[in-house]
Amino acid sequence: MAKAGPASVEFRNVSMRYGAVTAVDNINFTIEAGKLVTLLGPSGCGKTTTLRMIAGLEIASDGQILIGGKDVTKLSAADRDVSMVFQSYALFPHMSVLDNAAYGPTVKGLGKEQSKQMALEKLALVGLKGFENRYPSELSGGQQQRVAVARALVLEPQVLLFDEPLSNLDAKLRRRVREEIRELQQDLNLTVAYVTHDQEEALAVSDRIIVMSNARIAQEGAPRDLYEQPSNAFVADFIGDANLIDVTVKAVTDDRADVAIGSATVTLPARGIGPGSAKVAIRPEALLLGEPGLGGSLPGTIRKCAYLGNHLDIMVETEVGELFVVQYGGREMLAPGTAVSVSFAKSGVTLIPPA
Ligand SMILES: Nc1ncnc2c1ncn2[C@@H]1O[C@H](COP(=O)(O)OP(=O)(O)O)[C@@H](O)[C@H]1O
Ligand SMILES: [Mg+2]
Repeated sequence: MAKAGPASVEFRNVSMRYGAVTAVDNINFTIEAGKLVTLLGPSGCGKTTTLRMIAGLEIASDGQILIGGKDVTKLSAADRDVSMVFQSYALFPHMSVLDNAAYGPTVKGLGKEQSKQMALEKLALVGLKGFENRYPSELSGGQQQRVAVARALVLEPQVLLFDEPLSNLDAKLRRRVREEIRELQQDLNLTVAYVTHDQEEALAVSDRIIVMSNARIAQEGAPRDLYEQPSNAFVADFIGDANLIDVTVKAVTDDRADVAIGSATVTLPARGIGPGSAKVAIRPEALLLGEPGLGGSLPGTIRKCAYLGNHLDIMVETEVGELFVVQYGGREMLAPGTAVSVSFAKSGVTLIPPA
């Protein structure tokens, strides 16, 4: 069978409605061939529905879906060259690891010996050589997950889909398995659409991230862009922690904005935002605590200080509300009631439009 290699995926104005529920609302995106793109967002925002539309397990109510530049909008799952790794793995419990992995080619009618060879090759790739004759119930969660990956890879699909693939694993294993998936994707040059609600996982594995909220795309970009240049409050808050504060843009000159944060004034990239009300998203590590009375800072009072090993979590009461501050590097604990000044680091403070 001639293999097509990894393919791009493109959504053009795609919507999915179930009766009165709009699960996906007019979204547009492109996944380049050979890239790993993550759909990230809270439960119910439309991630699984989007993945199922790529697979052909749901047919879009509206819009166009292209795989490798070819319109597949109306094609069934069987006629698309796409495989999916499900959240539950969905292994066949009564079949051996080998038979699970050989399922795809067998169903395609490729013959027993050839199917077995293809399965053995992919099982070795995911580190399961020697486990061929076991049954799923005789494997750990991480091993079952790899069988599911081998089974999805066996026909070398143009696009591989993962729906929350780590949710059945414990925290330590999750980190390792996500790295394995990323390595495999890069080594084999796979096109992957990956779904998670976990922002750290998304930052760790992705070439690009599509942040979804309420059936729409809130922002799309490289991990670093989303963290450093969130374009709205939802993204600022969902990717990493952020203090979201109402501010006044006093003036804009050459795309630099003078912004009043309470009684302090900072100059920030304007990002197209004009004078008037706006918000800033401030990363907890971008708030610097110092002796009270520092010029250009906000006066504050320590409310809480918690020791978390490599950092302190601190709540500071200020005129613009309670601020969440993180300090790294073996700092002294600060007693509640201590007066401080709060100033702003050069990066980690971003102007965003008012909600
Ligand atoms: N088959 C269905 N019938 C009716 N509503 C559905 C169906 N599948 C999903 N939905 C609804 O669509 C929305 C998005 O669901 P889903 O794509 O599963 O979200 P996510 O994967 O981001 O948690 C939810 O409100 C969900 O209840
Ligand atoms: Mg889901």
